[in-house]
Amino acid sequence: MSRKQAGGEQKGKLAVVIMAAGKGTRLKSKRPKVLHQVGGRPLLSHVIAAAAQVVAPADIFAIIGHGAEQVRAAVADTGIQFVEQTEQHGTGHAIQCALPSVRNYENILVLSGDVPLIQTATIEHLWRFHQNEAAAMTILTVAPSDPTGYGRIVRRDLGLPDVEAIVEQVHLKPGQESLREINTGIYAFQTAALEAHLGTLKTDNPHRELYLTDMAGILCRQGARVVATQVEDAIGLLGANTIAELVALDSIMRQATAQRLMAAGVTIYRPETCVIDAEVEVAADATIEPFVQLLGKTRVGADTTVRSYSVLENCTVGERVVIRPHCVLADSSIADDADIGPFARMRPGCEIGQGVHIGNFVEVKKSKLHPGVKAGHHAYLGDAEIGAKTNIGAGVITANYDGIQKHKTRIGSGVFVGSDSILVAPVTIEDGSYVGAGSCITKNVPAGALAVGRARQITKEGWAAARRARQKGETPGSSGTKQ
Ligand code: UD1
Ligand code: CA
Repeated sequence: MSRKQAGGEQKGKLAVVIMAAGKGTRLKSKRPKVLHQVGGRPLLSHVIAAAAQVVAPADIFAIIGHGAEQVRAAVADTGIQFVEQTEQHGTGHAIQCALPSVRNYENILVLSGDVPLIQTATIEHLWRFHQNEAAAMTILTVAPSDPTGYGRIVRRDLGLPDVEAIVEQVHLKPGQESLREINTGIYAFQTAALEAHLGTLKTDNPHRELYLTDMAGILCRQGARVVATQVEDAIGLLGANTIAELVALDSIMRQATAQRLMAAGVTIYRPETCVIDAEVEVAADATIEPFVQLLGKTRVGADTTVRSYSVLENCTVGERVVIRPHCVLADSSIADDADIGPFARMRPGCEIGQGVHIGNFVEVKKSKLHPGVKAGHHAYLGDAEIGAKTNIGAGVITANYDGIQKHKTRIGSGVFVGSDSILVAPVTIEDGSYVGAGSCITKNVPAGALAVGRARQITKEGWAAARRARQKGETPGSSGTKQ
């Protein structure tokens, strides 16, 4: 329950602080650690999403430092608060930097920006446990099969929640290597207890940093209650310090996404080969074949099949659609019953109508294709609007770019554009008209007309025999064959 402070200001009950200022030296990357991605989203975005289910964004504070502006920009739309730690002197120092912003909350929950698989339910469990135990500090722990590299929990008494200290890997004494219970880097603190002793942290470690983990021993020695709660989900609470660990977390997250979709009625063959981002939605009775990538905010409708080696990014696909193998589709929508590929490409801004057929080696960009359009083979359709049931022949190209500007091609409904035609934009081809094969169309074509824009064919009877005769050695003027 919140209580009034001396100044009359209401004290909030809980703030969430996310440590995200570190450089991530072990990643050996120029990108800030918390902007590395798993499941198609930055590490920090996952942590914020889980925290935002527990407290309001205004009560979430990310500690940023390394690449601060980049990190801030990447998650600014979440509405959370930011605290700067301009030089990074360790996790204890990070919390020292954040304290002025959160001292008005009774408790703070500390999350790590590099533990992205944290679940809302786990955060809620820690928060409940902390309140029930009335502890000054509560540590979230797990017992993975290999605890190497993590801080270990030294319990006072087995079976009791009370903790004596957290010992970092470098400080382990002989015998302590066998301690399997590790610190996840996620804690709850009573703010007053933390504030009273946070200044006493020392840099007596090989990295000369201030370790937040030392607070366990410090508070304990001051007679404050320090407890730990061990949860089952060891894999979900692992941190990512190296690229290999990031890739392992990515795979765990994608497996979880595939399992969730299959539980909801989606068939995914060889799910371990598919790359499906966390926010992707797929309806029941859809089928995803091996080696498919569904990225970003892609949505796939019921009874649709996405065949192998297709990559869909931010696409909305309707029902009963077939995406044949090797299609690359981005930022586009495809209505029900469409039949796409194999080897089709959609660049951003395509609106593909119901029952449209896009065949092999057809590239479409920023174009609207009304229901029933067919473009079966080798075409480029850019900045075009194509009316219902129009047929686009093989090799048709909209020449949409004049070297400076892009122009639109408008094709009406029921039009037949013969193969290998070039439609030089801006140009309009009205309803029901025909364009003869091999035409270069530079002028508008009225409704119902036939437009042919090519050189007339010349046919010379007997020409071939005459040529062959010449090749046999007849020189001009001579009449006989060679001796
Ligand atoms: C930390 C814990 C370790 C625990 C492990 C769990 C310490 C000293 N050790 O180790 O007990 O088992 O997490 O994953 O805390 N950060 C800052 N500012 C800094 C330093 C770090 O914001 O000055 C941030 C990092 O960006 C990161 C988090 O704090 O998100 C943890 O830091 P990291 O260096 O990864 O700690 P670990 O060595 O993993
Ligand atoms: Ca870490």
